[in-house]
Amino acid sequence: MKQTLLFLLVALSTSVFAQNDPNLGIIPAPVSVTKGGGDFRFDPETIILVDSPDNRAVQFFKAYLKKAGYVNTFVDVNRVDRKNYSLKNTVSLTTNFKGDLPGEGYKLQITGQQIILEGRGAGMFYGIQTLIQLMHGSSPAYANIPCAVIKDYPRFSYRGMHLDVARHFFDVDFIKKYLDLMAAYKLNNFHWHLTDDQGWRIEIKKYPKLTEVGSMRAQTKVGRATGGDSDLYDNTPYGGFYTQEQVREIIHYAEDRYINIIPEIEMPGHSLAAIAAYPELSCDPTKTYKVGETWGVSQDVLCPTEETFKMLTDILREVLELFPGKYIHIGGDECPKFAWKKSDFCRQLISEQNLSDENGLQSYFIGRIEKFVNAQGRQIIGWDEILEGGLAPNATVMSWRGEAGGIAAAQLGHDVIMTPGSAGLYFDHAQSKSSQEPLSIGGYAPLAKTYSYDPVPASLTPDQQKHIIGVQANVWTEYMATPAKVEYMILPRMLALSEIAWTSKENKNYKNFSQERVSKHLARLDSAGYDYRVPIAYGAEDTTITGNQFNVLFIPPVDGAKIYYTLDGYIPRETDLEYKTPLLFMVPEHKNIHLKTITITPSGKRSIAGDIRMEN
Ligand code: ACM
Repeated sequence: MKQTLLFLLVALSTSVFAQNDPNLGIIPAPVSVTKGGGDFRFDPETIILVDSPDNRAVQFFKAYLKKAGYVNTFVDVNRVDRKNYSLKNTVSLTTNFKGDLPGEGYKLQITGQQIILEGRGAGMFYGIQTLIQLMHGSSPAYANIPCAVIKDYPRFSYRGMHLDVARHFFDVDFIKKYLDLMAAYKLNNFHWHLTDDQGWRIEIKKYPKLTEVGSMRAQTKVGRATGGDSDLYDNTPYGGFYTQEQVREIIHYAEDRYINIIPEIEMPGHSLAAIAAYPELSCDPTKTYKVGETWGVSQDVLCPTEETFKMLTDILREVLELFPGKYIHIGGDECPKFAWKKSDFCRQLISEQNLSDENGLQSYFIGRIEKFVNAQGRQIIGWDEILEGGLAPNATVMSWRGEAGGIAAAQLGHDVIMTPGSAGLYFDHAQSKSSQEPLSIGGYAPLAKTYSYDPVPASLTPDQQKHIIGVQANVWTEYMATPAKVEYMILPRMLALSEIAWTSKENKNYKNFSQERVSKHLARLDSAGYDYRVPIAYGAEDTTITGNQFNVLFIPPVDGAKIYYTLDGYIPRETDLEYKTPLLFMVPEHKNIHLKTITITPSGKRSIAGDIRMEN
């Protein structure tokens, strides 16, 4: 006879969690949070005292408060006599404090009487992001902010999000919305993938055909490009690009949020859009080329002729003129050598330059570009293929094919940004194995996998580890045709990225992150108009359990969301039973109960169905 089995799938309720959250709901988790007791009451009388009113962080806070319906006065402390105001009910944003803070660090002290935020530059900005997170969830113009002392600074100096605007184009407003999200989560590098086989998206004055021809494709593949979908195209022209004026506007917007932009101009592969505009860039200018209409890797690549280098350096000159940052990304990934092998010119060049083979030629190509970029006082970043055939002397390597390239580059003394697709940092990968997930390139990168990634390989020596300057998630948009789909794919995984990039290893805790903090943030994103993947309710993940008695307890994955369930195998809807309190099921011998759940957020977003089989 079977023993009675009591299954407690999840043991604690959300309200208990909320009170105990050591991180006060903040994402990414700070270095240290010392809780006081009680709250600071932020109300319309609260005065904001500032010692650097023109500071971008102060300006950001002012704009935020106004937009959120707060009505507070800002006072420049340099212009008033200290005797004339009380510190009671004030928020001091101060850059003028004793001692130093770590780079990008801040200190936030909240008592019942006043708030003091100390920080400079980016540090002040990040302190403000933390303060804004603590102000959430209150009525307009009022907020209860828990008393605490927070000391904080990042683990890595490079905290990146990438966006491919070549496969699908995203307009200026969406790029700003993307930057807003990055800023809120203390991410500081936006890797803007501006060119690829399927589109050239940045205006270059000297070569107008790059956008006239290269920004438009005649049609786009429907469904998955590989793996059995029919050979169907949408028969609809598609295109878009950013003018230099728009690029400047976005750079400025990013700077106001302490975000550096790294433009990527792909070479020598992934360049079909440029070749379609200027066939003389290819090894066979007699062929006709068209901007890519399907996904994958094009065999047609840039030919390493003097004409190509002239055009590329002209293009880069305009790009460097626009973008003030230290880095420019030159791609370097997935360059098939087929066209070079067929080319007499390439064979001769390999011989003239004493190169090993076509890999050596790729290395020669990147080396020449690096020399030019370095001569302009900047640095290149390349995908890890730039290691093949010899690494350009000053290049930073972005390791995407696992960590091997990053490890090899760090061992050679090069800086490295970790972005391995195999470790949950490719946000074009599916967020679960369910067939209910929307179309994606495949793969499997659930939130927990992203969260568990540590960018510093244990195999490196401490000195080599210092070359791991940070981490980034990549967003390739073959299967993301809309802003909403991009948001669905990056959220909530971007929150995990922010914690990998910012929070010390010791302070990471997946249960606290996912069950106590993410649910609050998703509720805010819900009301702020962002799309996101609604996680399955905690405790409702697909599973089969055996026994004869089951006690089932769920935690909503989004604050304020409702969980509905069915016992008949159908996917639940809002017309089904609502989960309110733990459920008890008795299953007769040789029978089973099929419990399906769905979560629906206040704005109507739905999770996929979770599926629990209880068998006896
Ligand atoms: C890449 O995903 N091809 C860098």
